[in-house]
Amino acid sequence: MSQRIVLLPGDGIGPEIVGSTREVLDALGEFSFEELLIGGISIDEHGTALTDEVLDACRSADAVLLGAVGGPKWDEAVARDPSAPRPEQGLLAVRKELGLFANLRPVAAIPALIDSSPLRPGVIEGTDLLVVRELTGGIYFGESGRRGSTAFDECAYSVEEIERIARVAFEAAITRSSGGKPRLTSVDKANVLETSRLWRETVTSIAGEFPEVELEHLLVDNAAMQLVSRPTEFDVILAENLFGDILSDESAMLTGSLGMLPSASLGESGPGLFEPVHGSAPDIAGQGIANPLATFLSAAMMLRYGLGKESEAGRLDRAVEAVLERGFRTPDLFTGAAGETEAGTAEVTRLVLGELDR
Ligand code: IPM
Ligand code: MG
Repeated sequence: MSQRIVLLPGDGIGPEIVGSTREVLDALGEFSFEELLIGGISIDEHGTALTDEVLDACRSADAVLLGAVGGPKWDEAVARDPSAPRPEQGLLAVRKELGLFANLRPVAAIPALIDSSPLRPGVIEGTDLLVVRELTGGIYFGESGRRGSTAFDECAYSVEEIERIARVAFEAAITRSSGGKPRLTSVDKANVLETSRLWRETVTSIAGEFPEVELEHLLVDNAAMQLVSRPTEFDVILAENLFGDILSDESAMLTGSLGMLPSASLGESGPGLFEPVHGSAPDIAGQGIANPLATFLSAAMMLRYGLGKESEAGRLDRAVEAVLERGFRTPDLFTGAAGETEAGTAEVTRLVLGELDR
């Protein structure tokens, strides 16, 4: 029986990049797809960013591939009426309801794109790190609201929540190490926040289970600085939800563009959710110029971690690399340097399909 993939294109450039990814997946194997609504488009259709039907379909799928959610139209609606539904609620709900507490965001400098980054080649060359972001706790899911002219967002973490994500990060450090000593950097703000002090304490105690891993703790402000000053010295970075969100966008610049970063969100069991780290880019939606590569690479993570298809995952990773090596660049990556050719979404997709055919 073919594996069942739920596609959630979402908003903005989501439908374009997920459409391209579907073509690529079709070239890699026999999958059955179900395409469903999430985010702003679901609000327009059903008044909510995620319906129970879509959630159930995700639950019973083998994997879920998502484009992006959000856009100015729905931001404006919320500005007019704070109780209006927000597209992001759909994404947060699907993560929470599927128990996807572990978000893996690999960040590797791509040799062909070294000049597309705003950072100096000498700084980013050799960067190869993994951000392990806690995805279903912290300030994203605490109590929040308004009291008169005051707004509040509670940040809470339990020992159990920290332990399970810490184990994922330690295990990832071991899996990734090829010969050298596995390293893990845990990020917090323990000089100010109580949740961070519990975070540090708990991660330190879990380290006892993984004596082969070298653990360091960094304060998040310092980590943000070191990520751009010495990125090659990081291996696995473990962070709570909000810090991981911020540091992963920052890390994207090490690869040349936010348009290149894939992610996998996994739980203890059940289907994973795979999505590019970038957002819905409403400013370029519908123009055929969106970079589909982060979604292709997310599909590769889906094949690898969600569907047990390592060899297909490897083929897709290599096809993306080959197209970049040949100089093809969507506008977000295009620098105008000799050897580069500017290409839109459809052309990049066609080129990746061509590489898969070789
Ligand atoms: C991400 C995004 C989301 C997040 C938004 C769209 C809610 O920024 O996946 O990094 O903050 O988690
Ligand atoms: Mg983000």
